[in-house]
Amino acid sequence: MREKAGMNYYVKKCLPFVLAVSFFLAGASYALAGAEASGKILLLYYSKTGNTKAACEALGKALNADIREIKDRNSRDSGPGIIGAMLKINLGMQTDTDPEKIDFSPYKNIIVAAPVWASKLGLAMKTFIENNRFDGKDVIIFITADSFIDEKYQEKHRQLVKDSGGTVLGNFQVQATDLVNKEKVPRTKEKIVEEALKFVPQMQKSLAGK
Ligand SMILES: Cc1cc2nc3c(=O)[nH]c(=O)nc-3n(C[C@H](O)[C@H](O)[C@H](O)COP(=O)(O)O)c2cc1C
Repeated sequence: MREKAGMNYYVKKCLPFVLAVSFFLAGASYALAGAEASGKILLLYYSKTGNTKAACEALGKALNADIREIKDRNSRDSGPGIIGAMLKINLGMQTDTDPEKIDFSPYKNIIVAAPVWASKLGLAMKTFIENNRFDGKDVIIFITADSFIDEKYQEKHRQLVKDSGGTVLGNFQVQATDLVNKEKVPRTKEKIVEEALKFVPQMQKSLAGK
């Protein structure tokens, strides 16, 4: 009897304290999770010949983003490597990427950047997007390509991200060549970077608008 009375006493005395501490801890961890997932930008890029990489390094600095390179585990440096990639892209197949997956939980905003291959996103980035979930993430797509990429292909790039759960806020593209006397002349990396940096205010506006 005495023991029961003692238990009741402790329950009455301690319960409000235990509840208060639990509510405080739950609130603090919720606030912390919210703070972590808000505002921070993750910039993911794939680049074979360095155009997208140069643009992304500059964009990453300007946007204060965390940058991660997505690599293709299969070499695309030779003819057969490129032919293999084009076949896979056209047949809707994948390559192996490094990394395969990334924990997006600290980020609300993600920029996916890639060169255009056969009008689609470069194989490694296409594969990476297909193999990761972007639910709850606001995504900007950035591409470099030799020609201007039409809206109908950009819509396919957006669809790829949407199929993986992301909300696409915008597409941005920088051309890697200039047309001189009807010939495509490669732009310098400096010019590509200069063109990419022009998008920073628009990217910030898109991200802030959410
Ligand atoms: C396999 C392959 C396919 C490509 N397909 C296209 C294309 O369909 N349209 C286009 O405008 N450029 C195309 N390009 C050109 C690249 O998109 C462009 O040079 C890009 O800036 C390269 O970026 P990177 O240096 O980051 O790899 C292709 C390049 C490669 C290697």
